[in-house]
Amino acid sequence: MSILDDRALIAARVRLVERIASGDVVLSSRIAEAFLNVPRHVFTPVFYRRESGDRFIPWSAPSEGDPDPDRGAGAWWDAVYSGESLITEVDGVHAEHAPPAGVSGVPTSSSTAPDLMADMLDALDPVPGARTLEIGTGSGYNTALLSRLVGADNVTTVDHTPHLVDTARERLKTAGFTPDVVPADGTTGWAPNAPYDRLIATASVPRVPRAWIEQCAPGAVLVVPLKGTLAGGSIAWLKKLPDGTAAGRLMHTPAAFMPLLPDTDHAEGRPRPAHPQAGHAADETRTSPLTPKTLDDWTFSFFAQLHLDPHTTRTFTHTDGRQTTTLCTPDGCAATVTETDHGAEVARFGGRDLWAPIERAHRLWLELNRPRREWFTLEAGPTGQHVRLAAPDGRAYTWML
Ligand SMILES: C[S@@+](CC[C@H](N)C(=O)[O-])C[C@H]1O[C@@H](n2cnc3c(N)ncnc32)[C@H](O)[C@@H]1O
Repeated sequence: MSILDDRALIAARVRLVERIASGDVVLSSRIAEAFLNVPRHVFTPVFYRRESGDRFIPWSAPSEGDPDPDRGAGAWWDAVYSGESLITEVDGVHAEHAPPAGVSGVPTSSSTAPDLMADMLDALDPVPGARTLEIGTGSGYNTALLSRLVGADNVTTVDHTPHLVDTARERLKTAGFTPDVVPADGTTGWAPNAPYDRLIATASVPRVPRAWIEQCAPGAVLVVPLKGTLAGGSIAWLKKLPDGTAAGRLMHTPAAFMPLLPDTDHAEGRPRPAHPQAGHAADETRTSPLTPKTLDDWTFSFFAQLHLDPHTTRTFTHTDGRQTTTLCTPDGCAATVTETDHGAEVARFGGRDLWAPIERAHRLWLELNRPRREWFTLEAGPTGQHVRLAAPDGRAYTWML
């Protein structure tokens, strides 16, 4: 497959590390060394290019003399060693199995953007010998980096897709690593190899699964992408304490990982929130000074969702450049919030006004001087998971996650 010689491959990896280091990420020499020594292309021989919307076209490693310059050798290698995430699976169809015309759907596996991986690995502090659990093997590239950092014998990685697991195991072997690659539902961790000193998830959860904390040894570090109702993605950095709880903070880095499936918030037989029927008259309409676009700020949307029924869903559409956000809850309430010149037009369906708590959250947000992600702390214990913020005037705020 390789049509780049070794020198060109090394140069591509050096450029990748330089790119990561020139961004927001503080790249330690150990993490840089891992990126320099672990090839990404071994794990992503075929991935998807997004053609438009939800349409994805498979893109393979080019062969000598590829006639299409856009899809030619240089472009493919540049994409692999760019800072971009590479989508490898769409609705369960791996890029390697996709027809040349492509597929439509939602990405279900990818090789995460290297900048983000570097930031998360740095936060994880993967010291040699640390027993490490990775949730979401995907391509296996991050597993390879972890293996390089802590030693492959100390790494366990789980993915719920057997094909991904088998392929990643083979490719890890090709790259010289033999960690334990397990086909399993990562929601419950992987008890047979516990306890772990480090746990990193590369799929998001609305809150940290109890099993992950239980399977960690006291002093362990957990790095977990959180994403809830309004899709305001962030990453929790937690330390397991001797009393069995885990405490830490949110990282500065925004991160919208694909969810750990099945979506735990809807896997318990709870009905999915339903959209208002077309043509169904609203129970009430009103105006709001708050535009639905405010929710596009991920830090605010994280804050806003702390004030909502955790099972609220948000979808949005654009008509003539104006956004309409629809919020729904499982009890049948809904709100459509349409952008206007001065804020929004709100239509309420059902007994509760779902936009009102977001308006209140926004007022508090401004009062607190738009707190940054990293100002929030997180505690996960047997009585629940709490997000806290200490305001400069000494007031402390607590929300259930
Ligand atoms: C962003 S990808 C992982 C990226 C990967 N670490 C890499 O370097 O290529 C997320 C992965 O989570 C996996 N996943 C989703 N739900 C899961 C579950 N319940 N248990 C285990 N893996 C899951 C998906 O199959 C997907 O491969």
